Amino acid sequence: MASKFLVALVLTLALGCGSASEEEEFVVTLDHSNFSQVVSKHEFIVVEFYAPWCGHCKNLAPEYEKAASELSKHDPPVALAKVDASDEANKDLAAQFEIRGFPTIKILRNGGKNAQEYKGPRDADGIVSYLIRQLGPASAEIKSSQEAAKVIDDKRVFIVGVFPEFSGEEYDNFTILAEKMRSDYGFGHTKDAKVLPRGESDVKKPTIRLLKPFDELAVDCQNFDIDAAQKFIEESSVPLVTVFDKDPVNQPYLNKFFNTPNAKAMLFLNFSHPKIDGFKSKYQEIAASYKGEIRFLLGDLEAADNALEVVIFTGTLSSHLFSKLTDIAYSFPSDFLWDVQYFGLKKEKLPSILVQDKDHEKYLKEEVESDHIAPWIKEFKAGTLKPFKKSEPIPEVNDEPVKVVVADSIQDMVFNSGKNVLLEFYAPWCGHCKALAPTLEEVAISLQNDPDVVIAKLDATANDIPKTTFAVKGFPTVYFRSASGKIVEYEGNRTKEDIVEFIQKNRDPIVKAEAKKYKAEKVADSMKDEL
Ligand SMILES: *[C@@H]1O[C@H](CO)[C@@H](O)[C@H](O)[C@H]1NC(C)=O
Ligand SMILES: *[C@@H]1O[C@H](CO)[C@@H](O)[C@H](O)[C@H]1NC(C)=O
Ligand SMILES: *[C@@H]1O[C@H](CO)[C@@H](O)[C@H](O)[C@H]1NC(C)=O
Ligand SMILES: *[C@@H]1O[C@H](CO)[C@@H](O)[C@H](O)[C@H]1NC(C)=O
Repeated sequence: MASKFLVALVLTLALGCGSASEEEEFVVTLDHSNFSQVVSKHEFIVVEFYAPWCGHCKNLAPEYEKAASELSKHDPPVALAKVDASDEANKDLAAQFEIRGFPTIKILRNGGKNAQEYKGPRDADGIVSYLIRQLGPASAEIKSSQEAAKVIDDKRVFIVGVFPEFSGEEYDNFTILAEKMRSDYGFGHTKDAKVLPRGESDVKKPTIRLLKPFDELAVDCQNFDIDAAQKFIEESSVPLVTVFDKDPVNQPYLNKFFNTPNAKAMLFLNFSHPKIDGFKSKYQEIAASYKGEIRFLLGDLEAADNALEVVIFTGTLSSHLFSKLTDIAYSFPSDFLWDVQYFGLKKEKLPSILVQDKDHEKYLKEEVESDHIAPWIKEFKAGTLKPFKKSEPIPEVNDEPVKVVVADSIQDMVFNSGKNVLLEFYAPWCGHCKALAPTLEEVAISLQNDPDVVIAKLDATANDIPKTTFAVKGFPTVYFRSASGKIVEYEGNRTKEDIVEFIQKNRDPIVKAEAKKYKAEKVADSMKDEL
């Protein structure tokens, strides 16, 4: 299975990347042989999990090195380390720390006993100041408006506990919360709410005030139950409209957006569109009116274009890891990437809005104007829209040895054909798919005279895939559907001999009336085996 992802590695190497950075004096290199030994000696150590071929890792390297040099002079010195998590030998470490993309930076405390994800900036100065904040107490006292102005910036969420005095159960709970969530948000506490920006009102009771750079700017919570307060913080820190663009400030909200079970609306357009302001304000209004029901995202075409690069990132992880990675690729959830490709986001059809409902059914409207959106969402809510299925046109001529299947022909050619079908899901840009093509053709030619067998391919970037039947997480993915409906993924070697042998082993004779009963029993048996 791992080999199907090697395409990305080949690609990046071919592009001439992969050279390690030259000066590596301050960043400590660790691997499986010495990781625990080194980490256990540190009360606080930062570890970057990287891959040599990853572009974002290469961009980070000089900044990380500079930060390491800077922090080595700090009192006490702060150690910055790195692990090549793409190396097979380090795969247990990568699994242990749930590395889902590169680079991932972890802050390890207490000899490695506590791990938190680094969520700070990626430039040297930013890394240094973020880490220095992580070193001190999780929440610092704010005594004056000057101090407040210093720690609360207008880019990020900041949480302040307001207490008549710094003791009691509420205060203790707040401290626990701050410790738990410190790598996500800045925390502070004060006795005087009036020193805080964006919230005029004073408070008498212990209060958690969440300051945010969007929507209502400040919200209060007086429930100090830890779980309830954590939920309050997580929910209040997602904007009404999640913005998907290149600004790293917006990236943390993306995961939250995609992790919600709610229906999701996504409007994509070129952010340089002359009417962008009109779109933004209308969209914001609509989002407010569906708060709690539908989540809204506004995506920049150019950021969506980048999504492909991200698919390639995750592509090289070993299959062992990959199963863990399907939720989040780098900072972008892979589900989302599939959608981008699946919808094709035709530039000439933008702005386009798509909605995915709770059951993952999709609806699409292309070439929208800002005042089309509200009525369309209303139709969606009323259930009167027709779900969208992407398909290439059914080819008029389909006489090559390897047959072309598209979404609109998959029923006839695969599910209802009564034949044994080997179906390759490919992407046009995927190198391993190109390498497999001549082999598949040989297989198809060698079985050409067998009327019971079909060798076929489907461009999975241009056609909707029945996702409950075929789990396509990388390219190429090859499935076999026997005449009687048994479905098996092909995971063998990509040679003609192995593929043909696999087909012969798994095939059923054409389903004929008299054979049907026997076949049905056999299928029932094989399904039992799978359970
Ligand atoms: C850990 O082991 C690797 C591989 O042997 C080596 O390159 C690295 O310098 C070691 N790191 C430390 C801190 O000993
Ligand atoms: C503090 O948190 C605990 C655990 O969530 C909860 O049982 C307790 O009620 C909280 N205290 C206050 C004052 O809310
Ligand atoms: C977005 O629009 C701007 C201005 O019209 C244009 O220059 C740019 O090429 C567009 N971007 C894309 C990816 O089409
Ligand atoms: C694939 O080929 C390799 C080397 O020829 C062999 O060791 C391995 O067992 C084969 N795998 C399968 C699934 O046939």
